[in-house]
Amino acid sequence: MTTPTMSFEKVSILGKPTIHVGYDIHTHIVQTIINDCKSSTYVVVNDANLTKVPYWEQLVTEFEQSLPKGSRLLRFVTKPGEAHKTRKTKESIEDFMLLQGCTRDTVVVAIGGGIIGDMIGYTAATFMRGVRVVQIPTSLLAMVDSSIGGKTAVDTPIGKNFIGAFWQPQFVLVDIKWLRTLPQREFINGMAEVIKTAAIWDADEFTRLEVNANSFLEIVNNAKFIDYKSTMTDEIYNISDTNIEAILEHTYKLVLGSIKVKADVVSSDERESSLRNLLNFGHTIGHAYEAILTPQALHGECVSIGMVKEAELSRYWGILSSTQVARLSKILVAYGLPVSPEEKWFKELTLQKTTPLETLLDKMSIDKKNDGAKKKCVILESIGKCYGTSAHVVSDEDFKFILTDETLVYPFNNIPKDQNKIIVPPGSKSISNRALVMAALGEGTCKIKNLLHSDDTKHMLTAVDLLKGANITWEDNGETVVLEGHGGETLTVCNEELYLGNAGTASRFLTTVAALVKSSPDKDYIILTGNARMQQRPIGPLVDSLRANGTKIDYMKNEGCLPLKVHTDSVFKGGRIELAATVSSQYVSSVLMCAPYAQEPVTLALVGGKPISQLYVDMTIRMMDAFGVKVTQSETEPYTYHIPKGHYINPPEYVIESDASSATYPLAFAALTGTTVTVPNIGSASLQGDARFARDVLKPMGCTVDQTATSTTVTGPAQGTLKPLKHVDMEPMTDAFLTACVVAAVANDGKGTGNVTTIEGIANQRVKECNRIEAMASQLAKFGVETRELPDGIQIYGLDSIDELKVPSNSSGPVGIDTYDDHRVAMSFSLLAGMVNYNSKSQDVTSVRILERHCTGKTWPGWWDVLHTNLGAKLDGAEPLISSNVNSNKSVVIIGMRAAGKTTISKWCAAALGYKLVDLDDLFEEQYEKGTIKEFVAENGWEKFRMEEARIFKEVIEKYGDSGYVFSTGGGIVESAESRESLKKFASEGGVVLHLHRDIEETIIFLQSDPTRPAYVEEIRDVWSKREQWYNECSNYTFFAPHCSTEAQFQKLRKVFGNFINMITGKRQIDIPTKRSAFVCLTFEDLTEHVDSLNPITYGCDAVEVRIDHLAELDADYVSRQLSTLRIVTDGLPIIFTVRTKKQGGKFADDDYVTLKNLFNLALKSGVEYIDIELTLPSDIQYSVLNNKGFTKIIGSHHDFNAAYNWDDAEWENRYNQALSLDVDIVKFVGTAINFEDNLALERFRFSHTTKPLIAINMGKIGQVSRVLNTLLTPITSDLLNTAAAPGQLTLQQINKIYTSMGGISPKEFYVVGKPIGHSRSPILHNTGYNLLGLPHKFDKFETDSAENVKKVLLDGNENLGGLAVTIPLKLDIIPFMEELSDSAKTIGAVNTVIPIGNGKFNGDNTDWLGIKNSLISNGVPSSVSGVSGLVIGAGGTSRAAIYALHNIGCEKIYLINRTTSKLQELKKTFPEEYNLVVIETTTDADKLQDTISVAVSCVPADKPLDEELVSKLERCLTKTTHSKFLPTLLEAAYLPTVTPIMRLAKDKYQWNVVPGAQLLVHQGVAQFEKWTGVKAPFQAIFEEVTRN
Ligand SMILES: NC(=O)c1ccc[n+]([C@@H]2O[C@H](COP(=O)([O-])OP(=O)(O)OC[C@H]3O[C@@H](n4cnc5c(N)ncnc54)[C@H](O)[C@@H]3O)[C@@H](O)[C@H]2O)c1
Ligand SMILES: [Zn+2]
Repeated sequence: MTTPTMSFEKVSILGKPTIHVGYDIHTHIVQTIINDCKSSTYVVVNDANLTKVPYWEQLVTEFEQSLPKGSRLLRFVTKPGEAHKTRKTKESIEDFMLLQGCTRDTVVVAIGGGIIGDMIGYTAATFMRGVRVVQIPTSLLAMVDSSIGGKTAVDTPIGKNFIGAFWQPQFVLVDIKWLRTLPQREFINGMAEVIKTAAIWDADEFTRLEVNANSFLEIVNNAKFIDYKSTMTDEIYNISDTNIEAILEHTYKLVLGSIKVKADVVSSDERESSLRNLLNFGHTIGHAYEAILTPQALHGECVSIGMVKEAELSRYWGILSSTQVARLSKILVAYGLPVSPEEKWFKELTLQKTTPLETLLDKMSIDKKNDGAKKKCVILESIGKCYGTSAHVVSDEDFKFILTDETLVYPFNNIPKDQNKIIVPPGSKSISNRALVMAALGEGTCKIKNLLHSDDTKHMLTAVDLLKGANITWEDNGETVVLEGHGGETLTVCNEELYLGNAGTASRFLTTVAALVKSSPDKDYIILTGNARMQQRPIGPLVDSLRANGTKIDYMKNEGCLPLKVHTDSVFKGGRIELAATVSSQYVSSVLMCAPYAQEPVTLALVGGKPISQLYVDMTIRMMDAFGVKVTQSETEPYTYHIPKGHYINPPEYVIESDASSATYPLAFAALTGTTVTVPNIGSASLQGDARFARDVLKPMGCTVDQTATSTTVTGPAQGTLKPLKHVDMEPMTDAFLTACVVAAVANDGKGTGNVTTIEGIANQRVKECNRIEAMASQLAKFGVETRELPDGIQIYGLDSIDELKVPSNSSGPVGIDTYDDHRVAMSFSLLAGMVNYNSKSQDVTSVRILERHCTGKTWPGWWDVLHTNLGAKLDGAEPLISSNVNSNKSVVIIGMRAAGKTTISKWCAAALGYKLVDLDDLFEEQYEKGTIKEFVAENGWEKFRMEEARIFKEVIEKYGDSGYVFSTGGGIVESAESRESLKKFASEGGVVLHLHRDIEETIIFLQSDPTRPAYVEEIRDVWSKREQWYNECSNYTFFAPHCSTEAQFQKLRKVFGNFINMITGKRQIDIPTKRSAFVCLTFEDLTEHVDSLNPITYGCDAVEVRIDHLAELDADYVSRQLSTLRIVTDGLPIIFTVRTKKQGGKFADDDYVTLKNLFNLALKSGVEYIDIELTLPSDIQYSVLNNKGFTKIIGSHHDFNAAYNWDDAEWENRYNQALSLDVDIVKFVGTAINFEDNLALERFRFSHTTKPLIAINMGKIGQVSRVLNTLLTPITSDLLNTAAAPGQLTLQQINKIYTSMGGISPKEFYVVGKPIGHSRSPILHNTGYNLLGLPHKFDKFETDSAENVKKVLLDGNENLGGLAVTIPLKLDIIPFMEELSDSAKTIGAVNTVIPIGNGKFNGDNTDWLGIKNSLISNGVPSSVSGVSGLVIGAGGTSRAAIYALHNIGCEKIYLINRTTSKLQELKKTFPEEYNLVVIETTTDADKLQDTISVAVSCVPADKPLDEELVSKLERCLTKTTHSKFLPTLLEAAYLPTVTPIMRLAKDKYQWNVVPGAQLLVHQGVAQFEKWTGVKAPFQAIFEEVTRN
């Protein structure tokens, strides 16, 4: 296309040329509509996003200006997004058109993506029984797919596209210029359908797409954002801008190509009865993924994954070749699409959502294509062609196999004994790579067949292409590669680096090839590089040898490894070349293959001893012969070769021999099953050592082997007659030893001599993909087969009969066979798996599970397909066995400097989680046996200590990492690299590595004061600066422990830590409030300077927001200290961590992403309850938070500070959709009110957006009412803050007052009832709370001892009654008037709280126990204890509440003491058995107690002297404690005197922690307050008022 402007092409559909495709054809579009769809009324409908596209303005303006007289143009704009593709939107368009008087001659013009096209198409289809519609598709998906074919629809809550019609448009006018502004991800999304269409129908187009992939992705990925000012609206929009003109021809062709195919298919099958089905390739499986992953994943992305899986299904059925599957997945990757839900980037984009097999199958069962209950799928036959003309029925079993990575192998017992199969394994890797090098250097055209498609060959081909060695083309649908070589003449340096991944063969071969390359006018070197692993693999000996021969080569990073800079201004001289060949034969082959091109004939001498893998050297020499170069071996010198000068002559065709190692699997299959298999292209003349496997291994084991020069046939003996191999040296065929092992496992000699097969010569197999010898031994053991490892091999003890083969299991059931990501291990065991239960006649035999089946992809991706489809094995797929709650008992490792408080906090940690505590230093000394660590170090040095420590740690963590331990470590553990690795690994697997951190200055002071281990300031600072980074990188959590100067602070810290550890381990859930709730925004620069006011500031709040952007400093230490301070003073109130950028109204620099990332990372590590992420942040930052959020909740926020858009604007809609696709936990939208109507618009928005919890408010004075109407987590300020965080912010008191005045809160009356109540503190307690929070309620006294009176005066007919606090003597008498009783009221047998439940009815509750429980918890008792008994003193009503409370926190037994025990026995009878109440009758009884008592509640009157007998029992109980888990704590129930005799006894004599009764009183009242009002009570203020005298 030379002049793209104005040129277009017409495509026919259903017999009419109504699809027009072009570039920049708006004039043509307008003219077509006006001339060919004459009408009095045109209605242009588009979504609000399109309005921002400059091209839209151009089109619509031109349309308006060109309108003929008597015609009018109406415009209607919808909200963007699938959420608005509804009947409701359709209705609003219809109403609009009716109001505007549209009649049957109306023409509707749909401009937009598929959503608009579908919805407007359907609207047109039903408006006045159908009016004309013109489609102007603007997204790639709409252009190539949705606008073509007349399918229209809207969504319903039940499903997508369920309501619709077939309605053909008058025209589909495609202008690819629209694609300029299409967002990048949408662009790529559309490519999935383009590739799909080519894959099913148009092989040539597919090839063209392959060729243009790179330039496409480069352009699309480099799309920019630009500002565009609309002249129609006068607003500035930030829009995406892709330079499609740079790939115009490609884009035009791909759009046109797709449209043509779709038009063709639709024309032959408009109503989708068969052929049109084919367009659903990839959609059966794709839709299933989409149903789970939407809205995080887009349609095209899911279809991309679906296509790969469905292509694999076709390969599984033996229809599609591996090459074709590889081509498909390669092109999808090249266009930026995902090919597996497990791809890392895609997994992050979809927020780690899982796609369980059963759900996928369920979703598939509701597909429209299905045939009743049968699932259907389109099967590809080759690229460009489908198998058959419609979809095919697929069994669940086959779907399961395709969708999983774990394979179930069933016994091979259904395979007929006379089965005779021909199997062609993929080409040999070694031969493939050699053939490519020689053909590239050779003269003439060579067709290479059966080439292995692997990383090595891929990189090799790319390099050959870049270096212009040969022209590369493909034939037979990519099965044959054709190289047109130029005799090495054209090799020239390229600008790109040669990136070789981890391809070892390619990198070794190409290093010498590089020495032959010629410089270009402006460059005289080549860079060869690879991935991180490749940059560690050796290449030194080859480089040494080439350097010695005159080639200049530099190492760019590590000596002896890639990346290399090979200079091309030097020459490859030739002559005598010496090479050390004891490490790799690939060096030898590399020099050999390039030697003919040296300036002089080469004599290659292999020095340094016997060269390794002689067979591979022989292979190279024989292949060079086939390419016309004869190498001769020196007659005088050993390991020396003469290579003449010359060049290769390419044979017209070169068929790569199949891989002989791969061939061992089908051959062994024959051996095991007694059937016959022929491998037709490997025989005795083979170049590969493994070709001997049949003759040297299977034959002596009893198989019939028929080998010609070029083929091998094996027939297995009758079942049970395979013989062990006494001894075999497999040095020439090491890779085949794994196959030999599984055959040997069932070989027996019938003589009872142990059936031993001994394999030697395979030591190198310990350093392959895994330690293969060990792997075979451990996995064979799972089948019940014994082995013995030898220095150079392995012995296998064959079973006497295959019936002894076990289904691999452990105590809890079947287990899988580990494959170590090693293709050969997987393939070997797939064979043995089929021999288990081979003779079983039972119907439901257990299958054997092979894990990670994909690993065979390295050399034989189609192995499972061959096993299943060609060889006849029954296979199935399955979900991993590991249950989802493996993490629930993940251990915790605590690291940090000496004196950071590890010992104490580790204890707290263990107690809070109920874990066992292990101190690693103690463990070390235990293992060392001979003394302390200090002594060990004195004897062996630090280095040795660190080594040992690392070893022990690794061992312990591997063994107990999942078993609920807390490991406290020595401060220096991070000094060892091994330990750091272990820590990081543990953290990455879901374990907690907690860095305990304390201020370094405090640490110094502390350490200097330690008389046993005094330290020097400089020393400590040095250590810290050395380790700080390590602590950070090894830990996934951090806890900052400030210095505590009082016991109370210490207890608070303990509680805060308990909160923290329970939060990060998921044992404490953060519940997003469901009632009216609020959070205060802290704007201090330094919270530690406002410690006294922080608590009052948070009164009534459900959370507190720290505006990090307001802090004075932003380094980790400073911020940690702020968070820690806040937690302690607010008693663990949930924290919202917010870094507000300037753009969004805050103070944080807009583009300081580095600091921002660090801050978010710190927030996650600190386990804050909420993190606010702005929706305008770069998505990589958002995803990095979302993907690591753990149990933290995420608030996705957006602020319109400048009042740029109102609540009906599409911006909010788009932001809401974005929040849904990011799957944030809470959406927070803040607009700005300019007039009061903005508040009403906001309420409408709130009302219609309920998918996610939403905080939505308007800023500014006018917007204040929105802060009152918002229910969830309203941001508030406080009188104690010097500045409000945002304009218009109100205090909670103000909000409640306004809300009350609007009728939102109705004033209630509350009373305390009973007698005497003259001194009751309840009125002051509650009224203090009401006043502080601005609540309109009143609390009064009502003194009476008659329950009837209470009923008559208060309960009956008092609509304003909010509740009653009931005290003596009415706690029992009131019960008859209650409609229902709470569990606590029932068990305790008394009511102290009356709660109205409507209709004049009441609930009787008891909060005394809550007062007891909360008093204990706020004084350091864990909210749930284990291994602890409680003690209750006294036998009255409060004792009953105490028993209920102690049972509730988990006391396993509760002991009861009193002056007289008869009342206790009565009391005991009224409690359920499981309370385990034990009455201590005598002091002797008390002496005999075995349990640990750590919590006690005293409920005896405190104003009388204590009974002697009771005291002596009590004293004995108080001694039954240990101080290990938490301080033993006694709560006094009596309010006065402040210190009672029991308190004194417990504290002074037994060092118990004692809690005065005032706390109980307030906690009880606060519990009532919160139950009645639903609002969090300001505890501190209430406490002060109540206890003030
Ligand atoms: N009828 C069919 O045969 C058929 C086939 C496939 C898909 N569909 C339907 O198509 C819909 C998906 O279509 P889609 O992927 O086009 O989504 P879409 O309509 O939502 O468009 C994608 C996004 O890009 C924006 N956009 C579109 N063109 C733009 C342009 N030129 N510049 C800037 N922004 C632009 C849109 O406003 C939207 O936000 C789904 O509802 C699906 O069910 C229908
Ligand atoms: Zn589709």
